[in-house]
Amino acid sequence: MNVSPAPAVAAPPVPAGPAVRRRRYLLCPPEHFAVEYAINPWMDPDRPVDRAAALRQWEGLASVLRSLGHRVDLLAPEPGLPDMVFTANGATVVGGRVLVARFRNRERAGESAAHRRWFTAARFRQVRTAAEVNEGEGDLLPAGPRILAATGFRTTAAAHREAERVFGRPVVSLRLTDPRYYHLDTALAVLDDSRVMYYPDAFAPETRRLLRRLYPDAILARAPDAAAFGLNAISDGRHVVLPDGARGLAEQLRAAGYVPVPVGLPELRKAGGGPKCCVLELRPE
Ligand code: ARG
Repeated sequence: MNVSPAPAVAAPPVPAGPAVRRRRYLLCPPEHFAVEYAINPWMDPDRPVDRAAALRQWEGLASVLRSLGHRVDLLAPEPGLPDMVFTANGATVVGGRVLVARFRNRERAGESAAHRRWFTAARFRQVRTAAEVNEGEGDLLPAGPRILAATGFRTTAAAHREAERVFGRPVVSLRLTDPRYYHLDTALAVLDDSRVMYYPDAFAPETRRLLRRLYPDAILARAPDAAAFGLNAISDGRHVVLPDGARGLAEQLRAAGYVPVPVGLPELRKAGGGPKCCVLELRPE
């Protein structure tokens, strides 16, 4: 594995301030990446995938995160688990407690054990595997005092209640309705403790009303930026790493005072993933 330490962007270092914290992220190099099955509408097993290109693009993402001052830990990739690069789905980590995922599709089930082993070896305070179908940070996004969680395609409502018990934080259930946006992190991104951006059309009407009430100043993405996977973004409270195709959203972020940091991950996109899917945040608090 060759993870280049050279910064891929000339981004300013994370300034000290209440909103911006140095983050710790878990990533997994796409050494066994492939599209061998179709469990979301973006996946087409007949379309060729360039694994070397996927690795280069992923290395670009890892070096961007490092250049922004964040810590990147690595999970060892395993053969036979072609979606393992999407570490966001393997667990949710809040306050040093780890709720390891239980995947909906058997094709990904083996990833849970790999995550469990990593977290146990890394001596996290509490490591337990979800009893309910739960696809980790793909569907559960900690946002300040609460956790935003989705149902509709993968994670169940029962898993939301389980997460509430495990983490002792209120979990707000949101309902996804468009199969292209099958995980919460494809339709909504947490920018900081009090702000989010999302694509309203990906959600059920009652969820749209709830989001408007909870986040009256949210950034609302437009259809082309959502389709470019623009909501699949990683924010440290100031820098927002997002797909380079989401140009309109990058402008909206800039206007709101954030620093957009575009990255290109076209190969991983063939599996229905973007930058956020490749990153699991390890939250000490
Ligand atoms: N092929 C993977 C799946 O369908 C992509 C996962 C993307 N991850 C995410 N956090 N949205 O499960």
